[in-house]
Amino acid sequence: MIRPFAYIAGTGRGLPAARMTNHDFAAIGIETSHEWIVERTGISERRIARDGESTCSMAADAARKAMERAGVGAGELDTIILSTATPDRLLPATAVDVQAALGASRAAAFDLSAACSGWLYGLTVGEGMLMTGAAKTVLVVGAEKMSAIVDWQDRATCVLFGDGAGAAVLKRSREGKGILSSFLRSDGTLAELLYRPHGGATTPLSEAVLAERSHYVKMAGREVFKHAVRMMADAADRALDGARLTGADVDLMIPHQANVRIIEATAKHANIPMSKVFVNVDRYGNTSSASIPIALDEAIEAGRIKDGSTVLLCAFGAGFTWGSMVVRF
Ligand code: ACO
Repeated sequence: MIRPFAYIAGTGRGLPAARMTNHDFAAIGIETSHEWIVERTGISERRIARDGESTCSMAADAARKAMERAGVGAGELDTIILSTATPDRLLPATAVDVQAALGASRAAAFDLSAACSGWLYGLTVGEGMLMTGAAKTVLVVGAEKMSAIVDWQDRATCVLFGDGAGAAVLKRSREGKGILSSFLRSDGTLAELLYRPHGGATTPLSEAVLAERSHYVKMAGREVFKHAVRMMADAADRALDGARLTGADVDLMIPHQANVRIIEATAKHANIPMSKVFVNVDRYGNTSSASIPIALDEAIEAGRIKDGSTVLLCAFGAGFTWGSMVVRF
């Protein structure tokens, strides 16, 4: 058996300083309440990028911390994978801005687009590059400035999201540690349940697009919720089966942080008590592909992941895309 082939050598996170609480929506004319948001989602506050903070700057912050913890210098990185749905510019990839910010002069760099599941897609691609010998030291970052693409006049979506970045350095495994299993899937027939209708190459930004606000995120919340519960549960099963484990073997589950009710349903399905589930959606909202690496970094810092811990990661997002992974630390 070839796995584990790749392990997480260090993690980091980069978050904007500015907090926006549920109470702050009143000041921008959004008709909502702290009680409604907490009851439906579990979110109390989120971070919002300001004063020049960008997808690149948050990604580079997270990356520097991950590299420091992994004991890896910028010159050692040979691949940078940046998962994002909110690149700073559409061309070139924001990953090359991160490469420049880090001074990673030997690194290939590219963006990967798989919405909230993107960081798990990135880890899986990075693992493959390590396996083929195409890379030796891979930086996988999830970074999002969701505040730039949500419609601040749409209360059904703008209360859900936040900005931030998380990163990990991936290296060839030693001592049986690392990725034990992974599972990735997509269903593009459901793309229009959560998407940005216009502003891409088919219908570029125009006065009409701007006027109808169709370049912002549109979501059929209730439908997305139903699919998220089903697909996150499926993802948990697949990664556990792949590692020949059950929920009872899991020391910590780190699900994508979109909604605490989706998290609870996934944990219940996998037979994992909430005491073994990491939740920080209350403080950051949904940071899309940054959510799992931010939570992973906080869990390690809080001592909830130790040497030998078995961790289940599960994600679901626009596309739809979904995926999961079992990692031994
Ligand atoms: N404050 C107050 N009321 C609101 C708000 C708000 N912020 N937003 C919507 N409402 C109202 C609606 O207008 C509606 O009112 P009506 O009944 O008078 O028409 C009522 O609340 C119910 O609206 P629903 O959308 O049906 O509310 P629901 O219980 O489904 O909760 C929510 C909405 C929280 C968005 C839920 O559907 C959800 O969490 N969906 C999943 C979303 C998600 O997780 N997306 C991300 C996954 S993919 C990714 O991470 C990119």
